[in-house]
Amino acid sequence: MDLQGDDLTEAVVASFGDSPSERYQTVMSALVRHLHAFAREVELTEDEYFTAIDFLTRTGQASNEKRQEFVLLADVLGLSMLTVGLGNRKPPEATQSTVFGPFFVEGSPAAQLGDDIANGAPGQPCFVSGRVLNTKGEPVAHARVETWQADEDGYYDVQKDLDHPQNRAHLITDAEGNYSFWSVRPVAYPIPHDGPVGELLQAGGRGWMRPAHIHFMVTAPGYGRLITHVFAAGDEYLDKDAVFGVKESLIAEFTEHAAGTEAPDGSTPDRPYYTVNYDLVLATVEETRASGDR
Ligand code: BEZ
Ligand code: FE
Repeated sequence: MDLQGDDLTEAVVASFGDSPSERYQTVMSALVRHLHAFAREVELTEDEYFTAIDFLTRTGQASNEKRQEFVLLADVLGLSMLTVGLGNRKPPEATQSTVFGPFFVEGSPAAQLGDDIANGAPGQPCFVSGRVLNTKGEPVAHARVETWQADEDGYYDVQKDLDHPQNRAHLITDAEGNYSFWSVRPVAYPIPHDGPVGELLQAGGRGWMRPAHIHFMVTAPGYGRLITHVFAAGDEYLDKDAVFGVKESLIAEFTEHAAGTEAPDGSTPDRPYYTVNYDLVLATVEETRASGDR
């Protein structure tokens, strides 16, 4: 009774003390202590409290299967990247992980190596290739490489109400670990900012652009799942990513080629095209654990 100040905080912490899960107790105690400390530090007013509740309510209301406003909120607050960092400790030879983002779709079409997965998406053709390797530099055969990206207008297929996927597929690496496909040259694009998260960015004087990138998710038996992007070198937003996802080691050169020149797959496109080559290096499950992942 009559709880206030630190006594109130400790009473709330103690109220979780009977949980059968020790982890739940740990997480909830820290959450309550930090939440209370935050309110004390900023001397949160009641008006601000109600504004925040309204913001979170609208964030929930804006969320559906196609629009994940809470994920977006975690992304722009850097919580997603913080969690990526905590959950993906691995040897330095392994490709670094970055944010998953809201545009992955289960059940992407299967593509053969070298296929054009753009499927009519607007943009300059881009041949994307590389190898899936382990940290010893050996090929990982039959790895599953999921890829997805935006088109030249900065839209993912799921934002366009199409009845077919574009710039989205999964491929299986060959015996040498090779993967390759044609898509379009990625461009910088704005994250969805017509909802509560957009208001937050605007109020903070922040941008909503992401530098051009291609998403990858790579899985293979015995290896930790790799979720990452390959970013385009020279993009003006590499230092200003709205979701803080850029890592130097994930930046690759997208090289322009003239129409009529021979592409790496032996074709001679009749319009200018780009190529990018990037090897994706997987850490084994044991290597990931040894590096401190839980
Ligand atoms: C993306 O790269 O697809 C993305 C990541 C975080 C927020 C919005 C979009
Ligand atoms: Fe993206």
